[in-house]
Amino acid sequence: MSGSQAPRFHLSPSLWFMRLVARAGFQKWASLLPVSKSLARRDGAEIFEILQGFVKSQALLALVESDVLSELLNGPKSAAQLGLSADIPKESMARLLSAGVAMKLVRRRRDGRYVLARRGAAVLGVPGLTEMISHNRVLYADMADPVTLLRGETETHLAQFWPYVFGKSGDVSGDMAVRYSKLMAQSQQLVAQDTLQLVNLRGVTRILDVGGGSGAFLTEVLRRNPNIQAILLDLPEVMPTAREAFSVARLEGRVDLHAGSFRDEALPAGADAISLIRVLYDHADDVVEDLLSKAFNALPAGGRLIVSEPMSGGERPESAGDIYFNFYTMAMRTGRVRSASSICRMCQEVGFVDFLTPRTLRPYVTSVVTCTKPA
Ligand SMILES: C[S@@+](CC[C@H](N)C(=O)[O-])C[C@H]1O[C@@H](n2cnc3c(N)ncnc32)[C@H](O)[C@@H]1O
Repeated sequence: MSGSQAPRFHLSPSLWFMRLVARAGFQKWASLLPVSKSLARRDGAEIFEILQGFVKSQALLALVESDVLSELLNGPKSAAQLGLSADIPKESMARLLSAGVAMKLVRRRRDGRYVLARRGAAVLGVPGLTEMISHNRVLYADMADPVTLLRGETETHLAQFWPYVFGKSGDVSGDMAVRYSKLMAQSQQLVAQDTLQLVNLRGVTRILDVGGGSGAFLTEVLRRNPNIQAILLDLPEVMPTAREAFSVARLEGRVDLHAGSFRDEALPAGADAISLIRVLYDHADDVVEDLLSKAFNALPAGGRLIVSEPMSGGERPESAGDIYFNFYTMAMRTGRVRSASSICRMCQEVGFVDFLTPRTLRPYVTSVVTCTKPA
């Protein structure tokens, strides 16, 4: 059959149905019949939720950046009081607070004053979350024209932002760099906690954390396992922060700091476990393949590899990995989210066996894959 348009009778039943649903006339008709009415309404409400996602997110940003949530930690406040301290007109503050109530972040009391709701308190309490909310500005600037982003036609803000993290010079203001370091360090605590709930380190005597950043993962490992020693490998620029963090935690005697790039050299030997925490998704497949092969070579027989980072749902796309982190890594221009099964496949190709993919606790925080070098 030639031509781009297949004749109507060759349409699959599902394509035929979707074309029908996509007609304005069908939508009008469906909204009148009892069964289709409820489906049409539910679809409508869900589509609207997707549509207003950006506005919700920006309203959350306003609540964080105008310190409304933190002000409410001090007790009930009126819109006028909150407006005064945030330098926002009372009427506009009342609108922002209505949005906050609708998002269940704040509550309006009978006397008209506002208090924190549990969800709003959690925004303040979850380590790194307010920094993440502020940091979203950089991603959202890149997401302003998503089709151009997908075509790869733009210089993205995140691509300029990340070289700092990679230890290379980047066009990043000092303020931005400080904010970002804080964000990474604080969010690392959550990732470390979830990872260590899913991974058993029994039998491990020395762990090498590749791209360990400011050391929050190793700090948590060492605190929970008094008999484990550690090596942190990261770029030279990151070392002072890591050294400081281990010294504050009084763990410097149990950690060797190894400054270097996994792109340019073999990984240090001597560890019976290697962790890659939020490292693979920063990099393209060729870099990841090379890194996994270096990890395999550095481990002894029976040595363990731990990969922990937000992952795609693969065949079953899921919200955090396939929407947020998918576009985040695309805007970074260097990496990509991968599914647990594609990470397993890449590990298998370099020789790892015995894969475990424990059920994730919070897919928006991290997911875990572990495997072993054959004995
Ligand atoms: C997204 S951060 C993750 C840091 C830490 N593992 C965490 O979860 O917070 C990626 C880390 O990899 C490090 N990194 C990037 N490229 C590297 C390279 N070529 N060699 C060693 N470390 C590298 C960065 O400096 C950074 O600390």
